[in-house]
Amino acid sequence: MRTVKLIRVTAEAPAVKSFAFNDELCSKAEPGQFVMVWIPGVDEVPMSLSLLNSRGQAAITAEGVGEATEALHNMKAGYTIGVRGPFGNNYTISRASKVMIVGGGTGLASLAPLAEKLTKEGTKITFLMGAKTKSGLLFHVRIGNVLSKAKGRLIAATEDGSYGQRSLVTKSAEKLFKQGEKFNMIYTCGPEKMMVKMLHLAQEFHVPFEASLERFMRCAIGLCGTCAIGKYRVCQDGPIFSGQQLLEVEDEFGCWRRGSDGRKTKV
Ligand SMILES: Cc1cc2nc3c(=O)[nH]c(=O)nc-3n(C[C@H](O)[C@H](O)[C@H](O)COP(=O)(O)OP(=O)(O)OC[C@H]3O[C@@H](n4cnc5c(N)ncnc54)[C@H](O)[C@@H]3O)c2cc1C
Ligand code: FES
Repeated sequence: MRTVKLIRVTAEAPAVKSFAFNDELCSKAEPGQFVMVWIPGVDEVPMSLSLLNSRGQAAITAEGVGEATEALHNMKAGYTIGVRGPFGNNYTISRASKVMIVGGGTGLASLAPLAEKLTKEGTKITFLMGAKTKSGLLFHVRIGNVLSKAKGRLIAATEDGSYGQRSLVTKSAEKLFKQGEKFNMIYTCGPEKMMVKMLHLAQEFHVPFEASLERFMRCAIGLCGTCAIGKYRVCQDGPIFSGQQLLEVEDEFGCWRRGSDGRKTKV
């Protein structure tokens, strides 16, 4: 584990903050990879890298949901955290094709660096982001700027209609397919029910698919088994899984996960 000092803390949404730090290894990670973040005296939790920057900087973006993430939210620039990693696989980079990216909540953390990398490769992106309300549309401006330089398209969907389409983001995606739009790849990260729906659309319209999964993690190096989904360990075999792999574990994906005590809970 390496200790790093926070160089910047940015509020992204009412309960979501980004934490930037200098770390060469993390800054060179691939979109989709994650780190184990140690919050001194509290806990160690997995977080996607939300910024990968050529100046040696990286960042994580955390929603305050419990003990560790609330403690992280109380930290300021100059505070010290620990990082292990980067771990896990990464999104496959499809060159010069037409892709759909669908994200919601803190799932957008790993999708923002993906969009940045894909635009450099000349990939045409339709990015759909969803939230309950406008303030939950993370990285809306950052992703919009990246896409506008590369003739990409950003479609926002909010459940209350406060911004973009008044719709579930999966409904907005389905509409594009039903209008006859073709894509060479779907990438998704966010609430598991959303990703399940996107997997079904990928099957129906015969599009290759990748989703980033979250499971409870302890070791992050394939030893403890707490992150298992079927025959896979999310920390080592994932966190990115193909549609084919997820169909093999469809009795678990979108249905249940194990908690810190190993018991199954509904997703
Ligand atoms: C690969 C990966 C990448 C992740 N990336 C992000 C990210 O970019 N931003 C973000 O905000 N969150 C991310 N998470 C989820 C994050 O790790 C948990 O929200 C965090 O561990 C909660 O810790 P806590 O002590 O604050 O909450 P707790 O009090 O422990 O729990 C609060 C809630 O979070 C869930 N949770 C707790 N620990 C985990 C865990 N290790 N994995 C998944 N869910 C958990 C619990 O089931 C509970 O519903 C990621 C998880 C994984 C596995
Ligand atoms: S977290 Fe220990 S095996 Fe994945």
